[in-house]
Amino acid sequence: MKQLCSTRDVPAGGCHRIELTDRPPLAVFNLDGRFYVTDDTCTHGDASLCDGEIDCDDGVVECPYHQGAFEIATGRPAGAPCSIPLRVYRVEVKDEAIYAAIDETEAACP
Ligand code: FES
Repeated sequence: MKQLCSTRDVPAGGCHRIELTDRPPLAVFNLDGRFYVTDDTCTHGDASLCDGEIDCDDGVVECPYHQGAFEIATGRPAGAPCSIPLRVYRVEVKDEAIYAAIDETEAACP
């Protein structure tokens, strides 16, 4: 598990982008106190999903480029033109620190 940030870095209903030196950026989402980590880059194009609109009720993030969407918890496409799932990572929160299993070969959710 890799430590990414503090829970205080991610506002409720918001997203915090994590820039890493050895891989594309990650997005940490806070859906009403539940934290999720996904790739930050949309699978349709080169857009940062942290710049998109988050719908906490539906658990969906809308891409800022073409308004495609993904389910944050599963990475499933939730709106055209997105059709390729977003990669999601298993998350643990310990003592206000958020960790993600970014080295696991399998995504956390189908
Ligand atoms: Fe995200 Fe097109 S780049 S929907």
